[in-house]
Amino acid sequence: MPTSSEKIKSDQAHLLHPLHHPTAHQQPKVWVEGRGAIVKDAEGGEYIDGLAGLWNVNVGHGRRELAQAAMEQMSTLAYASAYAGSTNYPAIALAEKLSELVYPSINTFFFTSGGAESSESSFKTARFYWKALGKPDKVKVISRMRAYHGVTLAAMSATGLPAYWPMFEPRVPGFSHIESPDPYRFVNTDPNVSQGVAAANKLEDAILREGPETVAAFIAEPVQGAGGVIVPQDDYFPRIREICDQYEVLLIADEVITGFGRTGRWFGLEHYGLEPDIMQFAKGVTSGYVPLGGIGLSDKIREAINSAPPNKRWMHAYTYSGHPTCCAVALKNIEIIQNENLVERSAVMGGRLLERLSELETLDGVGHIRGQGLIAAVEIVADKTTKQLHAPELNLSQKLYEALLARGLYTRVLADCICLAPPLVITEEELGRAVDIIREAIPDVLAGIRQ
Ligand SMILES: Cc1ncc(COP(=O)(O)O)c(C=O)c1O
Repeated sequence: MPTSSEKIKSDQAHLLHPLHHPTAHQQPKVWVEGRGAIVKDAEGGEYIDGLAGLWNVNVGHGRRELAQAAMEQMSTLAYASAYAGSTNYPAIALAEKLSELVYPSINTFFFTSGGAESSESSFKTARFYWKALGKPDKVKVISRMRAYHGVTLAAMSATGLPAYWPMFEPRVPGFSHIESPDPYRFVNTDPNVSQGVAAANKLEDAILREGPETVAAFIAEPVQGAGGVIVPQDDYFPRIREICDQYEVLLIADEVITGFGRTGRWFGLEHYGLEPDIMQFAKGVTSGYVPLGGIGLSDKIREAINSAPPNKRWMHAYTYSGHPTCCAVALKNIEIIQNENLVERSAVMGGRLLERLSELETLDGVGHIRGQGLIAAVEIVADKTTKQLHAPELNLSQKLYEALLARGLYTRVLADCICLAPPLVITEEELGRAVDIIREAIPDVLAGIRQ
């Protein structure tokens, strides 16, 4: 049997990884097993999975029910085309289930294999909708800085993290960004409105700048995940909805992270009592056990698609849309979330997590702590008064990542924000341990870079 270090040599010779660079892959972790909120590496080390894989393993690792659901469907009918004219029982059942769970006006679903494919589907559907309504110039998409919507070409163009752009430019024309509402950093220059409304008003400015007759959609994550877990102000999305209605711009909610209980509600915009026109999902729909994503469309968009003449049909497709095995696993996953009350659990445990994290506020370097349900972040700054970040050459994020890992917490540190989004089944003891590890790691790393 080759040892794991021999396997790593083979990996380095043959595999290209997401965000690849060999310097980031000198001593990769080889993950071999998972149970609940714990993952094990090839050396036998056990870690708290602080980010539930990549914000997706909502029901936790090692669920035999999901393996069983896949096995049963694979043994019956692993795959069938779902192109118009064909369908299958798991896809029908999943669409029906989602129409019960998702926002009341969203009752029609198209399935993809992941988040970026869902972004592409949303953008194309927004364009389709306006063309079908006789407004063919409405094609542009506005998104936000610090947004992550995936990295296929149009999705990358909507993503508001500039590090993803330079080596793949030019971006797709017609995509632009407004500022993130980040309550910690957004500077409100309008004394007449709250910070949340001022941040939302940036959308109105952008629509007017672009020309409302050219803007198809605004896309936003209810909580910006990869941008550093940014929870908006309570009045932000209500004002966004108002602006979208006023200028006839579709609101796309990117619920790839926030869907399926992550924020303590089934879907993120439920916190504000409002509905998007399109919602997109992935990750938690199957808890990552098999790849699946999709978009949900409001009834008015479904109507536009259904009433188009055949030669102007919604000519969009993926081989794996409505994949029977993936849909069967999603159904079982949703059953687990419901039977184990994981959405409520996310709200309760999230509240406790935030309480525990807030004890870290007095630590040197801790600038901001935020969260909603079981998604949270601790932002580290060089100066608490000016909120200035550490110089990039200090590599703080990487050092924090390593210090947390060395103590048994595996998670991502993005733009100096320690992100947490553990499986919704994480125990209180494990959450407490994660916070203790963070409490120890921060002063240790800061002492190291200040030497
Ligand atoms: C909000 C959001 N949208 C889209 C994506 C892209 O998903 P995928 O990596 O499955 O393409 C992600 C991935 O992290 C995400 O967080």
